[in-house]
Amino acid sequence: MKFFVDTADIADIKELAATGLLDGVTTNPSIIAKSGRDFLEVTKEICGIVDGPVSAEVIAMDHEGMMREAEILRKIADNVCIKVPLTIDGLKTCKALTNDGTKVNVTLCFSANQALLAAKAGASFISPFIGRHDDNGFDGLDLISDIRLIYDNYGFETEILAASIRHGVHVLECARIGADVMTAPPAVIKGLFKHVLTDKGLEQFAADWAKTGQSL
Ligand code: E4P
Repeated sequence: MKFFVDTADIADIKELAATGLLDGVTTNPSIIAKSGRDFLEVTKEICGIVDGPVSAEVIAMDHEGMMREAEILRKIADNVCIKVPLTIDGLKTCKALTNDGTKVNVTLCFSANQALLAAKAGASFISPFIGRHDDNGFDGLDLISDIRLIYDNYGFETEILAASIRHGVHVLECARIGADVMTAPPAVIKGLFKHVLTDKGLEQFAADWAKTGQSL
């Protein structure tokens, strides 16, 4: 399972990239607004930190506008992945860009039928939003299972990028289902390293080692 971080915070991206376990980055207009940085400038900086795909989202709602913006975004770096919304115009844009060899992440997916359409449009990634689905009384993990089943039925190569992840159980269940990628906020990823018994065990080992009076 690939791990992407859902942020434009450079310090967090650098910290996670240094673990060697970070495979990519996702952003969206809200994340860029939160960063307070210039969109193109911060995206370029992120692309220089990670080798994997960095999703940068178009703002336009129409196909022509999306194509124009994608042209600007894909010039930033080779690892930019153009993020388009799951609308008719978004999927038209996805088809045009992927025909051209550009990586596309189709975002704001809330149904398996939408994911089917994105795969037919040649998307590199489909981003079903688990947390927001849960918030609205649906089961976000069922959505991931349905998409996995459908993609496997037809051998679609579009990668399932589980998004809007809120906690470690989402990550665990997505891994069980077989999502290809998950993107989560830095705090959720950092939380995956932690376990109270790991801390307790380490404390005990350190105390017992001190009693030996030895050093390495
Ligand atoms: C994915 O690409 C989105 O940026 C993200 O996962 C949205 O998550 P949120 O629902 O926590 O805003």
